[in-house]
Amino acid sequence: MTTQDLKLPVVALFFAGLFMVLSGMPAQAETADTGCITAQCHSTLGKVKFTHGPIVDGECETCHGTSANHAKNPKNNKFKPVENVAAKCYECHDQFEKKKFTHAPIEDGECIVCHDPHGSPNKFQLKSKGAEICYECHDSEIVGGTFVHGPAAVGGCIACHEPHVSDNAKNLRAAGSDLCYMCHVDKAEAIGKAAFVHKPVKEDCVGCHNPHSAPKEFFLQASSPELCLGCHKDKKEQLSKVTVKHGALERDKSCLNCHDAHMSQIAKNLTMEPMDLCLSCHDREYKRDKGKNVMNITAWLKDNTEHHGPIKQKDCSGCHDPHGSENFRILRNYYPETFYKGFDIENYKLCFSCHEKTVALNEQTTKLTNFRNGNTNLHFLHVNKAVKGRTCRACHETHASNFPKHIREAVPFGAWDLPLNFEKTETGGSCAPGCHKIKEYDRTKKVINK
Ligand code: HEC
Ligand code: HEC
Ligand code: HEC
Ligand code: HEC
Ligand code: HEC
Ligand code: HEC
Ligand code: HEC
Ligand code: HEC
Ligand code: HEC
Ligand code: HEC
Ligand code: HEC
Ligand code: HEC
Ligand code: HEC
Repeated sequence: MTTQDLKLPVVALFFAGLFMVLSGMPAQAETADTGCITAQCHSTLGKVKFTHGPIVDGECETCHGTSANHAKNPKNNKFKPVENVAAKCYECHDQFEKKKFTHAPIEDGECIVCHDPHGSPNKFQLKSKGAEICYECHDSEIVGGTFVHGPAAVGGCIACHEPHVSDNAKNLRAAGSDLCYMCHVDKAEAIGKAAFVHKPVKEDCVGCHNPHSAPKEFFLQASSPELCLGCHKDKKEQLSKVTVKHGALERDKSCLNCHDAHMSQIAKNLTMEPMDLCLSCHDREYKRDKGKNVMNITAWLKDNTEHHGPIKQKDCSGCHDPHGSENFRILRNYYPETFYKGFDIENYKLCFSCHEKTVALNEQTTKLTNFRNGNTNLHFLHVNKAVKGRTCRACHETHASNFPKHIREAVPFGAWDLPLNFEKTETGGSCAPGCHKIKEYDRTKKVINK
């Protein structure tokens, strides 16, 4: 003890009826007449900043019992150790209310593992400061991760944990996400206002964040995508199977390129409206060393004003699986990559997930399609061939075109961009493609092309 400490004023509370605040006087002076604290005996008691009430009052016997001869001959007349310490404490302090969870040392009556029964330099007569007390029994490894949460780093364990009893598991001061909201008020507010909240965020932040420390930034157990795939097993399985990966998952923040981890105003926790999201990246061309480059869709949609239905509905995911696929161009269903393909209805699964497949199955029709000459279904004629069936791409653009029914201006045929020269009329139309000379069709009056 330093002289500095001795000079410290001691603020004491007297039980003996009068209530006095002493200042500038060491506690020793007041307790001396009890006979226990003298210059020779127990001189250190009562001099620390946080002295226990009964010590201030010189009530040694309340806890230690009496021993008439102790003062005369202390060596031979020792006090018996204080038995059943907790029961003693409870003589003056209310028992801790029964709650669902009791911290093990409380159960065991070990009050004095944490509290000094006489006094200490720390508030509540704690034997040491902050987390030190906890590390008497718990492993300090919990704050050993590379990224340490502020309150845990500075030993603020009891900001989150009740040291004695609690209604919440792990002796927490609040359950689930409410614990975090005690301090992260801005997050609570933002999540409260969001239209869509990620389910584990509603439940418990610790599903992703370690409250103490972790190897990853923001005290995350893992980074995206591993973090996400830890719970999203179906996605994990899907991703393990995809042969065409989406570049968006492969770079930067992976899943978080598109999803917010916590909440959003947009369904599926997307960071932007779905189509805006796609176009936030596909507003440029991606050049590839191998294979076809990935074109600039924003520019294409701007230059071609006849947009395909799902694009009008702003639904790129109707055809593409943003998470990857077994089909080229991450398409949700099979669609031929080539100009020709022997007919099989399965080849057009993509288109027929929204359109009527009869358009390619019925040779004659009066209503299934407008692409007919009289009753001859020209879709059937072109598409439904065992060899060299023309695929839809031979005539249609998928995203947009400047022609009605989003017919193509031209279609890549090997190295040549084969023009279609489509003209539409009231009851039919004509084309003069690189495939054959100009041919016309008319739904009301069958045209005989020469
Ligand atoms: C609130 C109960 C309580 C009061 C009041 C109390 N003691 Fe103690 N005292 C204890 C307990 C419990 C221990 C055992 C501490 C341990 O095992 O760490 C103890 C231990 C001691 C010891 C053994 C050495 C040590 O410090 O561990 C001495 C000496 C002692 N007390 C003196 C006193 C004197 C003198 C007073 C009055 C000024 C006093 N005590 C008042 C509870 C009390
Ligand atoms: C003889 C009665 C008595 C006994 C027995 C007793 N205390 Fe106290 N305790 C007091 C008084 C009086 C105070 C001062 C109350 C105040 O300042 O509000 C106090 C204060 C405390 C405080 C600080 C509370 C605060 O709000 O600052 C703690 C912690 C404490 N006691 C723990 C214990 C423990 C642990 C035991 C058992 C080892 C124990 N007490 C036994 C009377 C007792
Ligand atoms: C694991 C350490 C630990 C144990 C064991 C422990 N306490 Fe505490 N106690 C604390 C801490 C830390 C605080 C101050 C925390 C706070 O603000 O709630 C405290 C505060 C107190 C207080 C004052 C504030 C209050 O909550 O009323 C009393 C009285 C008290 N303890 C009594 C006891 C008694 C009696 C026992 C044994 C039955 C006990 N403590 C066991 C750590 C402990
Ligand atoms: C005297 C030893 C001791 C001290 C000191 C101590 N604890 Fe504990 N604590 C235990 C024991 C024993 C358990 C039970 C461990 C178990 O069940 O695996 C426990 C359990 C816990 C648990 C988990 C409860 C659960 O349900 O799994 C938390 C949280 C905890 N302690 C926090 C603290 C904090 C915070 C401190 C410091 C204020 C602290 N402990 C100080 C002994 C201690
Ligand atoms: C920000 C709040 C917060 C702080 C600060 C905090 N904890 Fe925890 N602690 C928790 C939560 C939440 C859990 C439960 C974790 C879970 O269920 O996975 C927990 C669990 C524990 C457990 C139980 C074992 C485990 O890992 O599940 C112990 C022991 C523990 N904490 C000790 C401490 C100690 C010691 C400190 C101070 C260094 C501390 N805690 C600081 C929130 C906190
Ligand atoms: C006792 C107050 C308190 C509680 C409770 C609390 N935190 Fe914190 N948290 C802080 C403080 C202080 C910081 C540091 C703020 C800073 O650096 O800007 C912080 C930082 C963070 C950060 C890093 C933020 C950043 O921008 O670097 C995350 C993530 C975090 N807390 C998550 C949680 C979670 C999850 C919980 C609940 C298990 C929680 N916190 C409970 C006080 C708290
Ligand atoms: C599904 C996992 C998950 C859950 C559950 C979760 N977080 Fe996060 N949290 C993250 C990820 C991932 C980041 C990093 C964000 C980034 O890089 O964009 C993060 C970042 C943070 C940050 C720092 C950056 C920021 O956004 O301010 C805070 C603070 C935070 N989380 C608090 C919370 C709180 C509070 C809860 C519970 C209400 C919670 N988190 C629940 C995954 C989660
Ligand atoms: C702790 C487990 C857990 C983690 C980690 C997790 N999620 Fe989730 N996620 C869920 C649960 C549970 C649901 C709700 C599923 C349901 O309702 O079918 C969900 C739903 C979703 C949804 C659908 C939301 C909706 O409205 O249908 C998306 C998108 C999502 N999570 C993305 C992510 C991303 C991205 C990550 C990584 C940053 C992630 N999740 C990490 C558990 C988790
Ligand atoms: C390129 C943007 C993008 C990326 C990157 C992305 N997602 Fe999605 N995700 C979406 C869109 C758009 C939807 C909604 C459309 C749909 O249902 O497929 C969605 C839907 C979901 C859903 C809910 C519906 C479902 O398919 O089960 C989950 C869960 C999900 N994503 C998880 C993830 C995970 C985990 C990752 C990282 C491995 C991830 N996402 C990466 C755009 C993305
Ligand atoms: C974060 C940026 C980003 C977002 C958002 C994004 N993508 Fe991509 N996308 C990429 C990258 C990067 C590639 C790969 C480019 C490369 O190969 O160099 C790619 C490739 C593609 C491909 C070609 C796949 C292949 O291998 O042939 C399609 C199709 C595609 N994205 C569609 C979409 C759709 C639909 C959305 C919205 C749901 C979307 N993207 C959102 C970055 C993004
Ligand atoms: C009707 C189905 C459908 C919709 C809706 C759709 N796509 Fe596509 N997308 C395709 C098909 C089919 C291909 C392959 C085209 C080809 O190879 O000729 C493709 C190719 C692509 C490519 C690669 C282009 C290239 O060849 O370089 C990108 C990027 C792409 N789509 C992004 C988008 C975006 C962004 C949206 C929403 C604005 C969208 N897609 C909507 C069917 C669709
Ligand atoms: C996600 C659903 C969906 C898929 C997949 C889809 N379409 Fe469409 N398609 C539509 C919708 C919706 C319209 C608009 C219908 C309307 O306006 O009456 C449309 C319109 C069309 C039209 C113009 C019809 C008209 O009357 O203007 C053509 C041609 C067309 N689609 C061809 C295709 C082809 C070829 C494929 C396969 C590559 C395909 N579609 C895949 C939903 C889809
Ligand atoms: C040889 C060129 C050609 C091929 C190949 C072709 N279409 Fe068409 N399609 C047309 C023409 C031309 C129209 C416009 C008919 C009209 O309105 O006069 C059309 C119209 C459509 C329409 C609008 C509704 C209707 O039938 O009038 C849909 C849907 C459609 N095609 C889907 C497909 C699908 C799916 C494929 C592939 C399985 C396909 N087309 C292949 C030329 C073609």
